[in-house]
Amino acid sequence: RSSGTTDVYEITQQTARLRILPGVKTTAWTYGGTFPGPTLVSRSGRRTVVRHRNELPHPTVVHLHGGHIPYGSDGYPTALILPRSGTASNPYGMAGMPDMSPEAGARDDVATERTYTYPMQQRAATLWYHDHRMGFTGPNVWHGLAGFHLVHDDEEEALPLPRGERDIPLMIADRAFAADGSFRYPALDPAQHTPGVTDPYMDGVLGDVLLVNGAPWPVLEPLRLRYRLRLLNASNARRYRLTLDPPPPGGGGLVQIGGDGGLLERPLAHDTLDIAPAERFDVIVDFSRYRPGTRVRLMNQLGSGSTAHVMCFDVSTARPPADDSRIPDRLSATAAPRPERAAATRTFHFQRRAGSTGWTINGRPYEPGRPLATVRLGTTELWRFVTDFHHPVHLHLNHFQVAARNGRAPGPYDAGWKDTVDLRPAESVEIVTRFTDYPGRFMLHCHNLEHEDMAMMADFVTE
Ligand code: C2O
Ligand code: CU
Ligand code: CU
Repeated sequence: RSSGTTDVYEITQQTARLRILPGVKTTAWTYGGTFPGPTLVSRSGRRTVVRHRNELPHPTVVHLHGGHIPYGSDGYPTALILPRSGTASNPYGMAGMPDMSPEAGARDDVATERTYTYPMQQRAATLWYHDHRMGFTGPNVWHGLAGFHLVHDDEEEALPLPRGERDIPLMIADRAFAADGSFRYPALDPAQHTPGVTDPYMDGVLGDVLLVNGAPWPVLEPLRLRYRLRLLNASNARRYRLTLDPPPPGGGGLVQIGGDGGLLERPLAHDTLDIAPAERFDVIVDFSRYRPGTRVRLMNQLGSGSTAHVMCFDVSTARPPADDSRIPDRLSATAAPRPERAAATRTFHFQRRAGSTGWTINGRPYEPGRPLATVRLGTTELWRFVTDFHHPVHLHLNHFQVAARNGRAPGPYDAGWKDTVDLRPAESVEIVTRFTDYPGRFMLHCHNLEHEDMAMMADFVTE
């Protein structure tokens, strides 16, 4: 619905029986009855209001990932939407988490409905919304609580990029299933889960079925034209190294035009694309570079067996119309934040909790309301992330740019505005951002959802 200066969406969070695998039904926790949830669309500069009603049997929290959002609508992990019964607790919290169920008195406020207001004072980008409930984000997202939210603006619309049916968001997510079709989330299954120092899910939960937009290993039949594919890794913990097999003649088949925070300055051709949980890569694939009838596989070079292959493109044998799209050499002009302007430099260590299960930032497991940093709005800061293990690090409120990786230039997948940056074991990354507009409490956390649930989060305060 639209009125005046506002776009309004209403979503009911509900259990749904979906056909994901042949011959069986899967009970999912959904936004509006589908997985992924409905793709929401916003216009830069126009407010979007999303009213969520929780008809699931347990509490939820909605976060718009990549949104530049005031504190009250950002989806703070204890700002619960209670279920209608209002009494469900959190019997399945991940090991290492304090009991943050509503009964433990740790909630911000309660409701069975909640209205999130997004000012959308931000540029065109591929955002996504997902659950962010304290200690329960992993299970909630795994069971289906994720969807796309696209923002459009004039700058992007003026470009001759592929649009309409040739602009396709692709949500890649691994899942595991039981024989009856139900989602298998090991930490929810007491038989598979013995909390202890050597928790088997310390590295996150992986599945052996790769879903794209909720379908296992789908096949798309593109015309021999350029397509814009908005790739999102919505997996809890799995990373992918995507590549086209066969590559087009001459290589460079995945032409990146955008990242988490919208268009890059210039296109960047890749043969492979490393994508960590929560990251988005906006790429153009030109299927006219293939012969009619070619089967092009989107492969995952970090997988094996069933997880090595993501989806197929069967290039159409039909004669295509003339391609009205092209990839301009210059996509966007945005001023990069300047590291030398940084008013403060802070270091955050992402590491395992000594002598126990769980994960910490600067030695501290997450505690709501105990911020690790207080930043002044309007100032630029340089933040250094240092890791012991693999951690995709995510910042709320503002997008950032990567200034350095391991003391050297940023890596091949660090270009442009980002909100999530992938760190391998024993790496360090420096990011620069200017904190703007909204005072409040925001999150810095690992986007491996099991790490997040096992307390690898921190608050920072803006004022
Ligand atoms: Cu996509 Cu704080 O999360
Ligand atoms: Cu986020
Ligand atoms: Cu992590």
